[in-house]
Amino acid sequence: MENLMEKIISLSKRRGFVFPTSEIYGGFSGFYDFGPLGVLLKENIKKEWRKAVVFSHDEIVEIDSAIIQNPKTWKASGHLDGFVVEIRECQKCHRRFRVDHLEDDKCPVCQGNLGQPSFFNEMFETYVGAKKDSSAIAYLRPETAQGIFLNFKNVLNTFPKELPFGIAQIGKAFRNEVSPENFIFRIREFEQMELEYFVEPKKSEEYHQKWIDERFKWYLDIGLKKENLKIFEVPKEDLAHYSKRTVEIHYNYPFLKNFGELEGMANRTDFDLKTHSKFSKVDLSLFEPKSRRRFFPYIIEPSVGIERIFLALLLDAYSEEELNSGEKRVVLKFLPKMAPIKLAVFPLLRNKPALVEKAREVYSLLKDNFLVAWDDNDNIGKRYRRQDEIGTPWCVTIDFETLENGTVTLRDRDTTKQTRHLPQEIIKIVKEKIK
Ligand code: GAP
Repeated sequence: MENLMEKIISLSKRRGFVFPTSEIYGGFSGFYDFGPLGVLLKENIKKEWRKAVVFSHDEIVEIDSAIIQNPKTWKASGHLDGFVVEIRECQKCHRRFRVDHLEDDKCPVCQGNLGQPSFFNEMFETYVGAKKDSSAIAYLRPETAQGIFLNFKNVLNTFPKELPFGIAQIGKAFRNEVSPENFIFRIREFEQMELEYFVEPKKSEEYHQKWIDERFKWYLDIGLKKENLKIFEVPKEDLAHYSKRTVEIHYNYPFLKNFGELEGMANRTDFDLKTHSKFSKVDLSLFEPKSRRRFFPYIIEPSVGIERIFLALLLDAYSEEELNSGEKRVVLKFLPKMAPIKLAVFPLLRNKPALVEKAREVYSLLKDNFLVAWDDNDNIGKRYRRQDEIGTPWCVTIDFETLENGTVTLRDRDTTKQTRHLPQEIIKIVKEKIK
């Protein structure tokens, strides 16, 4: 579809999914705000992730650690020395580019000459406390993972577990990306969902594969099209300093030549627990009573940014159609469980008090069970178009027949077919479909 990204960006703003941040001050590159529908879509992504990664596994718990950790964390983790990108600055327009994103020796914007390469650490710095000197420097976390490693002992002491077990976390991460790009694909403040799964070293490859398969299946379960997903094996020379093997799930983002990273799944070996033991002088090894051995478990880490999933869901769901009536519509074909709003309720006419009163009653009944919208503006056709455009799977209309026999119409977003039901039956139908 031509200009698909422009259409997604425009719809996101028009309907309240995503706004450019600080817009009245001209925006701020690499930062976005999430509107009322964006918040709901994000919540559904988190809910499905928690269901699959945390709640369906007895051996996995979730934590919520601080964004700013003791700065020694980042020395130990390797981020202070290693979280750097090579950049070159254009001598003419003074834009800066990542060397690994450059195709030739001239500035890709103004064709000016590029200066010598230099290195740039992507962690955001801040100061903690009243004295702003070098001793007060701290960092906004560039990944949530480290908060899990630092709490490894705390979690084990409160929730004793045998291997394998996992600690999950959802939270904000910050990276001072040199060139944020492609809407919410590469941004400076984003939200990660990460699992650190601790396993016996000799079983790490087996569990790695298990998580690769499980995570791939999850994307199909939330409604992404199989043909837009693929598995990518990260070449040895591109592996992060902690990784023995990394496999990524790639999505067919339209602005990339050949798919792009959605989720990464690394075998982090025993790097993290070993390095934090060394730097903190607190032994984070594990004693296993069964084998009477003390060792550092290996870690399998599925890690993803919510905004990348958010964007993939919008891209996959977006469709333009012509109805039998000849009318054109934009429709977001989310799976019902992912749709921000499940149902919209309309009185057929807003100037008939009996219809409005009955519609309010149905609205209130459905609202006790689901996220429901009320709309009595314009005609029914326009109301349907508005709900189609935000992906609401069903619309309920209260008409004159409702006043006679209590049934309402239930209109399906995808087929546009209408059927009649009692409101109580609708609760059952919808509950079954959003499981
Ligand atoms: N703890 C491992 C880790 O952070 P990563 O590959 O650097 O690994 C994991 O990041 C995931 O976080 C990526 O697969 C992507 O989904 C998301 N992510 C990373 N940088 C991002 C950015 N600048 N904007 C949006 N999402 C990002």
